[in-house]
Amino acid sequence: MKPVKVGLLGLGTVGTGVVRIVEGNQEHLSSQVGSPIVIERIAVKNSEKARDIVVDPSKLTTDPWEVINDPEIDVIVEVMGGINGTKDYILQALDHGKHIVTANKDLMALYGSEILAKAQEKQCDVFYEASVAGGIPIIRTLIEGFSSDRIVKIMGIVNGTTNYILTKMSQEGASYNDVLKEAQDLGYAESDPTSDVEGLDAARKMAILGTLGFRTNVELQDVSVKGISGVSKEDIAFAKRLGYEMKLLGIAECQNEEFNISVQPTMIRAGHPIASVNGVFNAVYVYGEAVGETMFYGAGAGAMPTATSIVADLVAVIKNLKLGVNGLKQIVPYKTKKLKSDEDIYFKNFLLLHVDDKAGVLAKITQVFAEYDVSLDSVVQQANPHNPDAEIIIVTHNASKASMNKVLRHFENLNVIRRIKSHYRVEG
Ligand code: NDP
Ligand code: HSE
Repeated sequence: MKPVKVGLLGLGTVGTGVVRIVEGNQEHLSSQVGSPIVIERIAVKNSEKARDIVVDPSKLTTDPWEVINDPEIDVIVEVMGGINGTKDYILQALDHGKHIVTANKDLMALYGSEILAKAQEKQCDVFYEASVAGGIPIIRTLIEGFSSDRIVKIMGIVNGTTNYILTKMSQEGASYNDVLKEAQDLGYAESDPTSDVEGLDAARKMAILGTLGFRTNVELQDVSVKGISGVSKEDIAFAKRLGYEMKLLGIAECQNEEFNISVQPTMIRAGHPIASVNGVFNAVYVYGEAVGETMFYGAGAGAMPTATSIVADLVAVIKNLKLGVNGLKQIVPYKTKKLKSDEDIYFKNFLLLHVDDKAGVLAKITQVFAEYDVSLDSVVQQANPHNPDAEIIIVTHNASKASMNKVLRHFENLNVIRRIKSHYRVEG
């Protein structure tokens, strides 16, 4: 049987996993697709580099165009990352009628609609399961499993690096910088880990999930983003004391055809299923109008989990090739984009304030909440032996984002408040 020939762009953490699975599971894979799968050419940056895997050196090239332009190659697997160069390679490959499998969320979040439009024009497949939540088949689940339902909420721990860091800080009291280094050594972090810790990686993934879940074209600028670099061990301890876990949560909500998406460190009630997702694990919680609560859990980063999703996409492309149905299953967002205004976005808030330790302060603070119609769930004042100011811990009931912003602006100019030490969204 004629083999299906694959061109690989990148042989780093994920690319190495792809070669291992394609070579190690050849019999299992070829029995599903009806022909052998051969990795024909591999583009790398440095062909002399020592690698964790043995590959035929004649397959390596430092010129990705050699792979893109090779007429023998049917499918391109892109696992080199980056945006501009990669976009050109993928668009050119589609022009040549090659199918694409990619793990590149940066590219899909920014240029997904252009790439998918080209794929449709050329009747090619573009699959990107590994781009969100590594080994969890969440993209196929949203496209196929939820095709009959209306999704109301998607809540995800979709960045393994930050979940790994927060877990180690919470469970072992480890320092932020040490754990970040560990996550980099384990191959979880992006080449520039700022995009992990500042929430951009999660925001890109949430834009992809929002587009698929809400059937509208969510762009990166529609996602409000805050990362974990400001989260302290003290904040995590406060969360625990109040019965919450601190997680970097992507939250996408849609009501009456209007949506909002955000990524931020969030205190989530300890009993919620997503609160117990630790380490490099990811989870995506999806609430459908008809189905109710569902949750999908698995490794969100790392060579083999990510490669599992990539090779599953490869199998899907080849099955489509055999059936002659490539390019027919792309999801095209059809709904007009309508973003919620801050007046319509509601959530609970945690606030830690450092205030003057004198009579009447609490009254002044609660008066501000009342002025903007924000109702309080709990208020605790405590002394801290290391802090001459009093500390006030406040948890609100659901309040609109607009009202809460007004409260915070007012607090910035209230003379009894020394410092708004922490402010987090609270869920569950
Ligand atoms: P790595 O940095 O480990 O690997 C990148 C690979 O691409 C390397 O082999 C590198 O070559 C090659 N490369 C980079 N630039 C070029 C270039 N200009 N020309 C030719 N080859 C090039 O990245 P990862 O494997 O970690 O990530 C790859 C993609 O997968 C990224 O888009 C990432 O976001 C995504 N991803 C990663 C996950 C993970 O857990 N790591 C999980 C899910 C998605 P060389 O080896 O010679 O340096
Ligand atoms: N850097 C990403 C993470 C890799 O930590 O989740 C998986 O997309």
